[in-house]
Amino acid sequence: MAAKIRPLIAGNWKMNGLKSAGLREARNLARTMKKHGKPGCDVLVCPPATLLAPLRDAMKGSHIAIGGQDCHGNEGGAHTGDISASMLKDTGCAYVIVGHSERRADHGESSREVRAKAEAAHRAGLRAIICVGETAAERKRGQTLKVIGKQLADSLPKGSTAKNTVVAYEPVWAIGTGLTPTVEDVAEVHASIRSRLRRRFRDDGAAMQLLYGGSVKGSNAAELMAVANVNGALVGGASLTAADFWPIVETCI
Ligand code: PGA
Repeated sequence: MAAKIRPLIAGNWKMNGLKSAGLREARNLARTMKKHGKPGCDVLVCPPATLLAPLRDAMKGSHIAIGGQDCHGNEGGAHTGDISASMLKDTGCAYVIVGHSERRADHGESSREVRAKAEAAHRAGLRAIICVGETAAERKRGQTLKVIGKQLADSLPKGSTAKNTVVAYEPVWAIGTGLTPTVEDVAEVHASIRSRLRRRFRDDGAAMQLLYGGSVKGSNAAELMAVANVNGALVGGASLTAADFWPIVETCI
């Protein structure tokens, strides 16, 4: 039997959060965590880049990690508006999300570019959270597993290990919509991802954290976290306040 995989509950604040409210929520989260003791999962918050350093300081000593929402595939240079993996590392990040469907859709990012970003994250010593997921049309056409298989093959670098890579399955149609797949559908996709990871990365593929994301909230987290091969959650809207995020973390206690 494979060893139990420690879950990861990750919050993605997206383009939300100004300093006063962001700091207040981060402090609330750190305080709540302290009160309840260290949970049985890793906890991560990925705020906008402007709040990385303030949140790092506000949550110091709390065991809550901070991460970026994206990084460039290059180390540095003439890339106005972009941020490099080593800059994130330098600010205290442990993780970076790459290939989120909003980046793939809004910025036309291909899986090849996502792989370059994940490679940059690995070089900088960050854990890359690599996102995959089908659109509603692809699911309707019965192409879900095929689409995700291709995204995985093209987005995950050769050197991916259980230590430097997390995979997040996020159906595009479930993000920010309040809709979630059935637990059977989540189980089917996660089993397929696990078997592909195992085939390609052997023991590392068997041990990689595999997150579900898309309309996760306190009311459905326990059910989703209980699905086989679900090792945590990537949470958008419900990660913005400590009051909404903590009940999701609590499912791992
Ligand atoms: P949501 O977003 O929880 O608001 O649906 C999830 C995500 O995009 O990571």
